[in-house]
Amino acid sequence: MCGIVGYVGQRDAADVLLSGLERLEYRGYDSAGIAVFENEIIKVVKSKGRLADLKEKMQKEGKPSGHAGIGHTRWATHGEPSDRNSHPHGGGNVTLVHNGIIENYKKLKEFLLSQGRTFESDTDTEVVAQLIDYYYIENHGNPVEAIVKTLKEVEGSYALGVIFADFPDRVFALRKESPLIVGVGENESFIASDVTAILQYTKNYYLLEPGEIAVLSKQGAKIYDLHYQKIEKEMKTADWDISAAEKGGYEHYMLKEIHEQPEAIKKTITPRIENGLPNLEECGITPEKLLEFKKIHVVACGTAMHAGIVGKYVIEKLARIPVNVDIASEFRYREPLVGEGDLVIIISQSGETADSLEALKLSKRLGAKTLAIVNVKGSSIARESDMLIYTHAGPEIAVASTKAYMVQIAVMYLFAFELALANHCIDETECRRLTSLLQNTPDQISAILENKEMTQLIASELITADSLLYIGRGLDYALSMEGSLKLKEISYIHSESYAAGELKHGTISLITKNMPVIAVATQRNLLEKTISNIKEVKARGAKVILICHDAYHPEEGTADFRFGLPEYEDLLMPMLAVVPLQLIAYYTAVHKGNDVDKPRNLAKSVTVE
Ligand code: AGP
Repeated sequence: MCGIVGYVGQRDAADVLLSGLERLEYRGYDSAGIAVFENEIIKVVKSKGRLADLKEKMQKEGKPSGHAGIGHTRWATHGEPSDRNSHPHGGGNVTLVHNGIIENYKKLKEFLLSQGRTFESDTDTEVVAQLIDYYYIENHGNPVEAIVKTLKEVEGSYALGVIFADFPDRVFALRKESPLIVGVGENESFIASDVTAILQYTKNYYLLEPGEIAVLSKQGAKIYDLHYQKIEKEMKTADWDISAAEKGGYEHYMLKEIHEQPEAIKKTITPRIENGLPNLEECGITPEKLLEFKKIHVVACGTAMHAGIVGKYVIEKLARIPVNVDIASEFRYREPLVGEGDLVIIISQSGETADSLEALKLSKRLGAKTLAIVNVKGSSIARESDMLIYTHAGPEIAVASTKAYMVQIAVMYLFAFELALANHCIDETECRRLTSLLQNTPDQISAILENKEMTQLIASELITADSLLYIGRGLDYALSMEGSLKLKEISYIHSESYAAGELKHGTISLITKNMPVIAVATQRNLLEKTISNIKEVKARGAKVILICHDAYHPEEGTADFRFGLPEYEDLLMPMLAVVPLQLIAYYTAVHKGNDVDKPRNLAKSVTVE
């Protein structure tokens, strides 16, 4: 969601802010703006639309020139996307940018109105700017005291970058729930919603914790607690390099990230395999500990939740432990039956998804042990959980998740193998065999990536469709949910995934002539049954696209298009079959001329509930 960047140093602040905001574009936004000290006066430029619109405005109005400032990309919550509602927002001496939601803004606004203040926007953010200014005046110009007083009044989630007209060489920052890091370079310092925004300048950063206030200057960053006591914090070093966050010759981040999957799997699983067997000890997971759990819950959102569904099928099949999969926003509010002896696995690429984070906290309060599977180092979910497995996908920039899903399921397999061995559901030989097959999936995926023509052809068949279905049974059904989500989020074509055997209980009535149906049929024990379901839709006019093992050739007339996958263990087929589904979604969106990496209305990291 919203992105924040702040800078103090010797470079041109507007350039640093704009390049940082470009790197945060993937989070999703509908307007952007910056505020820079120009000759000690705060100059604000903001605009509805993309960063290109903001730059165009700067060409007309002039680019603010100075060495300190704050910038923002806004994903609208309170107030429509418009120039007026774009950040930064001001209140007297104070100008700020905000990520999050101020829940009690109405009450605070009433108070400020009663003090004779007026407002220029419909946002909850402007209320915070005005309130800080109110206390700033009351406290005779002490910025940190004004911020602390404001924090005591404000309810909700926030990360804030704040500048004061009286302090032209300082940027102030604070957070609660919404992420914010403080970067430190030579004679310069930064704030950013995530580290990718500042990687081209520095890899050194602090993770700002709730209740901490950062004061940035050219000399570096000082961090204080709410009593204005200086805090010494551990400096982190990003292990992502800048090229990992750039397109590297690919037309889109999504395509690049699809191609990075073999490498991402290797990086994620290799350090967790010892002598041919899974070893998750460095993540806090031992065979003895695993035996404590009688029930597992997987809680996540979107693609991460789909990875959990694949995990459920694999864990239940191999380790014979019941697994519940929940959408985090449902789990939180349905008084879940979770308690001691349960393991709750939270899966999240960003580690900042508000519903997943709250589900984690709730699970802990209910007495369950929590395990986070997270990609972004040091993120809130990573820090809150009892046990932690980092996926090593590197930065995922495209809003549509691909490589993060791949490594999430790779971790679910590894976890299932270890659990099944601990439970004596499989023996060491079988565990070694499965682990070695998992280790070989990158080669299989690389081979699939060599063969993109068929996915391009299939995509060209989909662009005129209004709606389509994905069907499958067992693991193929679990996977088809992800295929369907991928297609709809970037191609804007309606699609649904359905358990193939459930079609005739209602959904088959949707089938009309030439309606595309993507049938995933990689599970050989279910193949005949799935083929019968395919014939049912074919008989009603559907255009069938079949994804199956390469050696399988159905009877003539069963499918209109066929994508053959390498012969491989059925259990691991989701890792292979997801690749053509990702490519079909990608090429369909490209053929339609859509903004593939930044689909409309979507944000990469959903930090509001
Ligand atoms: C998938 O392509 C989406 N971008 C979305 O469903 C995403 O997986 C979901 O918002 C969860 O995000 P997280 O993994 O960062 O928690």
